[in-house]
Amino acid sequence: MSAVSLTTQFLRRPLMTGAVAASSRRLARAMTQHIGLEEAKLVVELGPGTGVFTDAVLGLLAPDARLMAIELNPHLAERLVATRRDDRLTVVHGAAAELARAAGGPVDAVVSGLPWTVMPPDERRRTLDAVVRALTPNGRFTTFAYLHAAWTPPGRRLAADLRNRFHAVDRGPVVWPNLPPAFVHRAVSPRQ
Ligand SMILES: C[S@@+](CC[C@H](N)C(=O)[O-])C[C@H]1O[C@@H](n2cnc3c(N)ncnc32)[C@H](O)[C@@H]1O
Repeated sequence: MSAVSLTTQFLRRPLMTGAVAASSRRLARAMTQHIGLEEAKLVVELGPGTGVFTDAVLGLLAPDARLMAIELNPHLAERLVATRRDDRLTVVHGAAAELARAAGGPVDAVVSGLPWTVMPPDERRRTLDAVVRALTPNGRFTTFAYLHAAWTPPGRRLAADLRNRFHAVDRGPVVWPNLPPAFVHRAVSPRQ
């Protein structure tokens, strides 16, 4: 189990993992602030990896709230189950596009660590559509992008996809203490 790091998974499955290292706690804080997690009843995390955003979400959730974390890589899903003991957390091994079925009810916030820019375009669109369908009318969505990739065609497509699917989208400041530096896209009110 100890060999299951995001870096080793990147070396084995670079396109599925999409990151050479786990995100920093600073990025995790930026991903989970100002999205109403303190009042949320049901939150979904997509692509939790080794759990840095999972911990940040659990740190803000109420005692009776639930977090569903959906991870495609079976080794990472298994590691998350083995290393987190929190009754509010359910880890699902599966694809993010299935989130509505996995969540089983309206979702207040979705926090995504998915590697959008290396995902096949069809899967990216299906997953974003599934996020929109699963969220409540005032639902919040955060996802991050690496600074160096923001102006590439896949990075610009993600920004456009978000603007097309949400009434309001903003971009947080660059989190420099992250490898590589990144920023957060925060989207509110899905266009349902
Ligand atoms: C860039 S890593 C981020 C991991 C972690 N959230 C972090 O920030 O350190 C992307 C994660 O998404 C997972 N993933 C990739 N495609 C997925 C999909 N379609 N559904 C669920 N998880 C997926 C990968 O296995 C990996 O754990």
